[in-house]
Amino acid sequence: MGFCPGCNVSEPLTEEVESRHRRVIAPEPVPLGKVQDGGEIRRTIGIGELDRVLGGGLVAGSVVLIGGEPGVGKSTLVLQAAMEIAESGGRSLVVTAEESAQQVGLRADRLAARAKTISADSKDHVLLLADDDLDRVLAAADEMRPDLLVVDSIQTVSSRQSDGGAGGPAQVRESAARLIRFAKERQVPTVLVGHVTKDGSLAGPKLLEHMVDVVLSFEGDPDHGLRLLRSMKNRFGATHVVGMFEMSVDGLTEVADPSQVFLQDWRQDVAGTVVFPAVEGRRSILVELQTLTDMTRIFPPRRSVRGVDANRVHQILAVLNRHAGLKVSDMEVYVNVVGGWSLDEPACDLALALALASSLTGQPLGSTAAWGEIGLSGEVRSVAHHQRRLEEAHRVGVERVVAPDPGGRLDLSSAMLRAGIR
Ligand code: TYD
Ligand code: MG
Repeated sequence: MGFCPGCNVSEPLTEEVESRHRRVIAPEPVPLGKVQDGGEIRRTIGIGELDRVLGGGLVAGSVVLIGGEPGVGKSTLVLQAAMEIAESGGRSLVVTAEESAQQVGLRADRLAARAKTISADSKDHVLLLADDDLDRVLAAADEMRPDLLVVDSIQTVSSRQSDGGAGGPAQVRESAARLIRFAKERQVPTVLVGHVTKDGSLAGPKLLEHMVDVVLSFEGDPDHGLRLLRSMKNRFGATHVVGMFEMSVDGLTEVADPSQVFLQDWRQDVAGTVVFPAVEGRRSILVELQTLTDMTRIFPPRRSVRGVDANRVHQILAVLNRHAGLKVSDMEVYVNVVGGWSLDEPACDLALALALASSLTGQPLGSTAAWGEIGLSGEVRSVAHHQRRLEEAHRVGVERVVAPDPGGRLDLSSAMLRAGIR
């Protein structure tokens, strides 16, 4: 680590040879069966989607890292969490190293403008500290012992005890290590906000992923108000759980029925679109896949892909060309997943193939959902969570489902026939 986390001295560690005669009293290992159930103490925040992504609320002494691009709404989310905790009588310390207390206060007013009025009393339970000096932050937190400590952001606080400028790897790592130690020692749940650069690399936060208990990523489509909160790592719960929010003029609101949001502009009468029931964590969410193909004079033709792996699109185009006789070599191809969602399940292959076939033949698919993994020989294999996808498709009222039965197979041409493509 380059410093001693025990005594906070930033001198490099030096090697010392122990005397051979050191007496060590053998520690006693605990049998697995005798380990006491720590019974993690959890506190629900009161924002359902956030609590769910956390695995049922904040665990005492845990450290959560929330990463996301600038402007996605991280500061808004953590402030809403602090205000929500205040509503149930908890006290939060929000360290704002980037904005002034006035700026945060203005945002809080905006958030409180929502139907649910925040009582003046509970507002006093959110304490703001506009400071970027870690030593002072820790001193204030130690005195207050809040129910939630927020540090916004980990890249902007720094300690004079450590070398290097704020935001540099050494500072970020040391600041986080000291905050983590504080959280564990004082059992204060702590949320660290971390900026992620535009290209998606968690420049600073990446260093911290192994140190913290929970890593959440806050993502959003700049064109929509939709925001996704994903758990990338969770020592106290499942990963790949997704919470959905909508950013409105008065803050983030939870999205109760994501499928409805993704499908609200679905035009079933247009060729090239189909619904795919994605599975995230324990639930299925229907998303609309859109494709457009058009003749080109430019070679090689354009292939623009958003929300799915471009390599899979190329592979599916090759399969359509070879096994379904659809000519794609002189076609421009555009693929988009509505709402800024990104699909990484191979299960979306069949939906992609049908949407592309629909666009290439000009035949709309109507109210159709599809899933299945496509192999290079044109076979469509069944995928996990068949029942969950089916139930969600039925719930929302999708009329036709094209998917191989569990354990079964389809070939691509019969799948196309089932989808009504001749
Ligand atoms: P912010 O939480 O400051 O983002 P981050 O901390 O991730 O950089 O939110 C920034 C954007 O959210 C900003 O462009 C304004 C918008 N916003 C709303 O649309 N409604 C609101 O109620 C608030 C507080 C912010
Ligand atoms: Mg911010």
